[in-house]
Amino acid sequence: MNSESKREGITNTSPLWEGRLGLATSEIFSQYVDSIDFDIVLAPYDVEVSRAHVRMLKETKIVDEQTCQKILDAFDVISHEISTGEFHAGLVPTDEDIHTAIERRLTELTGDAGRALHTGRSRNDLAQMSGRLYTRDALERIKYYVEHAIGTLCALAEKNIDIVFPGKTHLQHAQPILLSHWLMSHASRLLNDRDRIIQAYERVNVCVLGSGAIAGSTLPLDIEFVARELGCTTISDNSIFAVSTRDYITEVLFVCAQIVSNLSCLGEDIVWMTSTECGYATLSDNFSSGSSMMPQKKNPDIAELVRGKAGLSIGALTGALSATKSQIFGYNHDLQVDKEALFSSVKDCELSIAAMDAMMETTVFNKLACENALIDQPLVLATDIAEEMVKNGIPFRIAYKAVAVCIKRALDAELSPEEIIQYMRDDDLIGQAATSVFGDKGTPVLQAIVKGIERRTTKGGTATKQVLEQIETVTKTIA
Ligand code: ARG
Repeated sequence: MNSESKREGITNTSPLWEGRLGLATSEIFSQYVDSIDFDIVLAPYDVEVSRAHVRMLKETKIVDEQTCQKILDAFDVISHEISTGEFHAGLVPTDEDIHTAIERRLTELTGDAGRALHTGRSRNDLAQMSGRLYTRDALERIKYYVEHAIGTLCALAEKNIDIVFPGKTHLQHAQPILLSHWLMSHASRLLNDRDRIIQAYERVNVCVLGSGAIAGSTLPLDIEFVARELGCTTISDNSIFAVSTRDYITEVLFVCAQIVSNLSCLGEDIVWMTSTECGYATLSDNFSSGSSMMPQKKNPDIAELVRGKAGLSIGALTGALSATKSQIFGYNHDLQVDKEALFSSVKDCELSIAAMDAMMETTVFNKLACENALIDQPLVLATDIAEEMVKNGIPFRIAYKAVAVCIKRALDAELSPEEIIQYMRDDDLIGQAATSVFGDKGTPVLQAIVKGIERRTTKGGTATKQVLEQIETVTKTIA
């Protein structure tokens, strides 16, 4: 149901504040203030919270067993209506938000029994509790997607373990790496994201019921009971904080923004790797688009869009932080916009991971193109020569300069790659180290490069043994 049809014939004041306000709510007031258009996604969570709440009201004998049962039975009906879309279709003009709508429907179904549900609670704590349950589920889903994507990267890294690749800094050839080392660098990013999800989950999974509008309740509510029912690990220790804070939302918005931002870096790498100039990777046709005009085109749309979505995710985070800054204590209606940022960011995040994961799964890496990028690039082993000299007792800075001077002379003389190698072998200062790195005359550059890769055995380094070790550890972590 869109807001247009919900507005038809609006003449009523909300039953929530019946008795206090003398005039019917103005149409523009409702259009501006109502949140039902977006907080409808909280429907199942409101029902979950309300079920736990009414069970608690029965346990504490605030409502009788019969009332509780009537409400629970009605919630079975409402749950069904939510899942079939009937609930959505039955919204009425005074349904300001999802919480109002559910209480209205409950009262339609049960009469006076339903009128007891809102005992000892306010929409301030109810909306937050529903939002926390929604966020908890969202984090669980996002964690699943992230773990799946990490698994995909590990599988790709294992499959392509024999591909050498030009490691870049400033987009200039830097040092040779394994392609799998690059793949696993993106797994490392996502692994940190996974840790952040787990940590954020703890701060989300807090029971805030009992906070009421701001100050708690005079009724003997058993909050530990509801907390247990809802699977919350802690109970909020301050009711003012509980209804005021949106820190768990901004934290999750950061988690989402960081994930999509990390994916955007992978996207950027893929756009570059699939470019005409590089051709290091080829996307599957079912994860590419063509051009409406140029018959030869094949474009990396997902990898590009994820860069755009990263911008939106960062916008949602800064938007929510800005909207929640300088809030005077207690609940203020500006806080309601938290959900618009949260829902859109969660949706974008889930879809971004799923799409990038599926795209990566079917991407083919071109061994020959990767090797060709290195075959005439002996200078990627310049650091190796300096480090070889260090092993022979020469201070690094002196070794560095000797290699740099030799390279500059070779480049100034416009020597070919093969000539550069020979020029270094013949150098008085670096000759011995260069020969050790490049081998004797006639040794293929690629062979020296593979040796250079296998020499980098520091933990997390690019040597095959290290990369395989990371793949194993990461696979175990997400298992
Ligand atoms: N829809 C509101 C929100 O999400 C619920 C709380 C309304 N509370 C109030 N005092 N008007 O923020």
